[in-house]
Amino acid sequence: MLDRKILVTSALPYANGPIHLGHLVEYIQTDIWVRFQKQRGIRCYYVCADDTHGTPIMLRADREGITPEALIARISEEHQADFQAFSVAFDNYHSTHSEENKVFSSLIYTRLRDAGHISSRTITQAYDPVKEMFLPDRFIKGECPKCGAKDQYGDSCEACGATYSPTELKNAVSAISGEKPIEKESVHYFFNLADFADMLSAWTHDGHLQPEVTNKLAEWLSGGLQQWDISRDAPYFGFEIPDAPGKYFYVWLDAPIGYMASFKNLCDKQGLDFNEFWAKNSAAELYHFIGKDIIYFHALFWPAMLHGAHLRTPTAIFAHGFLTVNGEKMSKSRGTFITARTYLEHLNPEYLRYYFAAKLSAGVDDIDLNFDDFSQRVNSDLVGKVVNIASRCSGFISKRFAGRLSGHCAEPALFVEFIHANASIAEQYESREFGKAMREIMALADKANQYIDDKKPWLLAKEDDKDDELQAVCSMGINLFRVLVAYLKPVLPVLATEAERFLNIAPQTWVDTLQPLLDHAINPFKPLMTRVDSDKIAAIVEASKDNLEKTVNQPKAKHFEAIADTINFDDFAKLDLRIAKIINAESVDGSDKLLKLTVDIGDEIRTIFSGIKTAYQPEQLQGRLTLVIANLAPRKMRFGVSEGMVLAAGPGEQEIWLLQPDEGAVAGHKVN
Ligand code: MSP
Ligand code: ZN
Repeated sequence: MLDRKILVTSALPYANGPIHLGHLVEYIQTDIWVRFQKQRGIRCYYVCADDTHGTPIMLRADREGITPEALIARISEEHQADFQAFSVAFDNYHSTHSEENKVFSSLIYTRLRDAGHISSRTITQAYDPVKEMFLPDRFIKGECPKCGAKDQYGDSCEACGATYSPTELKNAVSAISGEKPIEKESVHYFFNLADFADMLSAWTHDGHLQPEVTNKLAEWLSGGLQQWDISRDAPYFGFEIPDAPGKYFYVWLDAPIGYMASFKNLCDKQGLDFNEFWAKNSAAELYHFIGKDIIYFHALFWPAMLHGAHLRTPTAIFAHGFLTVNGEKMSKSRGTFITARTYLEHLNPEYLRYYFAAKLSAGVDDIDLNFDDFSQRVNSDLVGKVVNIASRCSGFISKRFAGRLSGHCAEPALFVEFIHANASIAEQYESREFGKAMREIMALADKANQYIDDKKPWLLAKEDDKDDELQAVCSMGINLFRVLVAYLKPVLPVLATEAERFLNIAPQTWVDTLQPLLDHAINPFKPLMTRVDSDKIAAIVEASKDNLEKTVNQPKAKHFEAIADTINFDDFAKLDLRIAKIINAESVDGSDKLLKLTVDIGDEIRTIFSGIKTAYQPEQLQGRLTLVIANLAPRKMRFGVSEGMVLAAGPGEQEIWLLQPDEGAVAGHKVN
């Protein structure tokens, strides 16, 4: 069993946004599994990369006035810093915008093409005549063909939930330029997925997938497999297709190939044999941890691509569910869209690792982060049960016995019971039943505490002739603590390392043959973990709240979330809402949405950038009264700092109406 060779991946996070707690479900789950394998002495490699290609990244770089390369370099650093802070220990972190990935993408494409699995034909698509680019569905906005709701995206309606194609939208406009899209033809390249129908029917029933995933795929397979459009027209941030100038690989074609690219990059650094892991007859195991939203790509396209290119297919795909917070989808308005960074500013990352471990199973059910449950579990399990064992016993050992553990084991049977649990705990880890593993470990912790409660070292300490017994009981407690820490090490690597320092022992491997520490010197105990401070949770939620400001190009979805929730009076009272007089309005060079307003808010003159240019000429606004949120945090924009927000209503474009008070109102009057 120890001669297993394993390559593990997590899905590659998009390089256009920060890592958030939802992502971390996956990276923490994978990291725990990998750490467990390594602790058992198995050769296991964990690779990942940023997923850097595609239209959103290109447009975001555009908006920030930087190159896509500069954007992805910055995001990659941010991502890696977040992962490191959560102890997610990749053996390699690479990028899909890399030489290795370009080579493998071409190779796989060429092999598929030469085997006849690629075809091309002309299709008609929406095209932005101003921006001179084809528009992905998400970049077309218009009225929902079903319910008429305005400002809906080209693929689905947020008001009524209908899905449709962008050509069905009424009064469609490009979300980039605001222009009416035209229809334009272009040649596209397709991967003939149907060529692999038989292979996929067999593969998806062959133990590579969770049962519920197999069932889902059976539905898709029986519905027939469509050709997959793998090309995009310039301008596109990606790899140009070898034999098709001006055509680029669709981001999802080269993204999974990024797994190979990152591993190849590792092989080159460490002198490993790439083919040992990827050749058709490879004996190595290959596992992809992913979220349930990307099963189609990993369980259909990816095995078909690999098979068609004469490479090995994955041993298994491990899909997990989605994170909800306090029972609901993460939401900026509720302050539950929490980035890794915001969390790190307030709480110990190991709390979250433990909490996720306690909630995770091998299935695809969603998992909920409930803050009360979170505090309660961390406080009661980690602080109250595990760390408590060491703090209860170590004081006597250091004060009364100069830090030396007893020379004999007080309760050998109990120690053996702890060691014997390793087989079942290992099985739970191996099968990703982390919640079960945590429960088993906590049941042992309860036993250790029970042992101490029964032996009452605090009473023994008061008697003159019970020194040996006192030392033996406390040493027993510390030896049990040591075993628990070894079991928790995949989940709590930092706590485990600090405990090893306290115990004065070498890094612990998996404990199947462990002997108790006898007549062994330990170091003074320092608290290994403190209780969750509920103020910190409140601070995280506060810091994660959308400041309700609407910026140019911010997707509508967030706006809808913001108005769907109720707020209490205190929330409302936080707004410094005032009458303001617009004393100057001017256009902003380089922006077709923004006006730069100079407003008098009574005790101050402020500069505010407002996205109302499509509806107002600057000269119409001079001297007008309106309403302003005066205590909005200043926001640095590309054109300057905006020091507040003016209030306007309407669906957008020409239909924006600036709010205006009745006559008699004076600049500076407060609304609430
Ligand atoms: N770039 C693609 C993956 C390409 S893999 C060849 C992508 N990126 S992502 O940033 O959107 O998501 C990365 C991973 O995080 C995915 O597996 C996704 O399912 C997971 N999660 C993103 N949000 C999540 C939650 N709220 N909850 C749990 N997992 C989530 O998809
Ligand atoms: Zn609708």
